[in-house]
This record gives sequence, C-alpha cells and structure tokens, in this order.
Amino acid sequence: MESLKNRIFNCTKCDLYKTRNNPIFGEGSYCAPIFIIGEAPGHEEDIVGRPFIGKSGQLLDKILEACNFTRNNHVFISNIVRCRPPENRVPTPHEAEACMPYLLEQIELVNPKILVLLGATALKYMVGSNHRITKERGTWLEINGRLAIPVYHPAALLRDPSLKRDTWEDFKKIFFKYRELVNPNHQSPHIGLY
Ligand code: URA
Ligand code: URA
Repeated sequence: MESLKNRIFNCTKCDLYKTRNNPIFGEGSYCAPIFIIGEAPGHEEDIVGRPFIGKSGQLLDKILEACNFTRNNHVFISNIVRCRPPENRVPTPHEAEACMPYLLEQIELVNPKILVLLGATALKYMVGSNHRITKERGTWLEINGRLAIPVYHPAALLRDPSLKRDTWEDFKKIFFKYRELVNPNHQSPHIGLY
C-alpha cells in the first residue's frame, strides 16, 4: 500500500496531475470486506486529500451508518480516477484507463468480499461501457471472481431524491450479503432481520 501510495502521489500518466492539489489514495480498512468505488475527487476532496468528504460523501456516510458500517472497520473507499477533473467533469476514457491499474492493484491488496460500484462511471470502467446503472443497480455481478453490486452515485441521489428509496433497498442487499459472507452477527437498528 505504501508503494502504491508513492506511485499515485508521483503519477504523471495523464494531465490531471497538473491541475490537482492532492491525489486521493483512498481510505478505510486495508483489509475491508467492502470496497466502495466512486468516480473522481471533487473540490473538497482535492483540497483535503480524502475521498467523499463533500456533500456526496456526507450522504454516503449517512447510508453506511444506517447499515452500521464505518469507514475504519468495514469499508475501503476509493475512486476510478485519483485526481480531480477540472470543473468536476466526468473523467475522459484516457484518464480513467491511465488510472485504473492503481485501483485494480488496490482491490487485490485489500482483497474485499464485496465491491460497491457507485454510479455510472464506476460501472463503466469496472464492468464495461455497454452496462447501464439504471438497469443494473441492485443486481449482483461477478468481476474476476469477486461479487460486485452497482448502486446509484450519492450525487445522483442529491439531484433526484426519489432515487433514495431504491438505493436503500440496494444497501440492504449489501448489509445482508455482509452478514452472509463476513459476520452473521452484524446488525443495525435500522434494518429488521425478519
Ligand atoms: N465523488 C466521487 O465520485 N468521489 C469522491 O471521492 C467524491 C465525490
Ligand atoms: N447517472 C449517473 O451518472 N449516476 C447515477 O448513479 C445515476 C444516474
């Protein structure tokens, strides 16, 4: 992880390093059973150097908290692209492809049971450009022998709060898969066990 961090911090494989303040390595447990993949850092993340700390991140934290998951214990949070694209535009295919090897290496190091793909960009680069978040969210996929579930990006929930209902159903699936694969005693006061 330290070698990976050094390579990310010194990376010049695409032009985003020229305009970024801080590359985002990711954060959470280095042996997290759940690995969350976003798109790219935004303004706040770029200033501070941590993933998902702006408005989207605060919503993500609320959802994780409702599942009784914490950043320190249950998840590792990372992104397709490590440096902020100017004006928060979607990363270009060149930028994403240049940065993907870091993510794939990080996934191998953490070795999670469950990958959570947040939004269209994570789905596109982890699974393929013919996949649609609106069709496939909440369905289990397999990526190199690992379970993965696409869900809406929290920024999409902020733009359209009516998507929150489906997203909560999706996170309950993640909660129950975590109980099945990792800890059968995991509970949350917000999720009934019926
Ligand atoms: N949105 C993302 O996709 N990633 C972040 O780290 C922050 C916002
Ligand atoms: N559009 C996106 O870019 N992401 C989502 O999660 C949903 C719609």
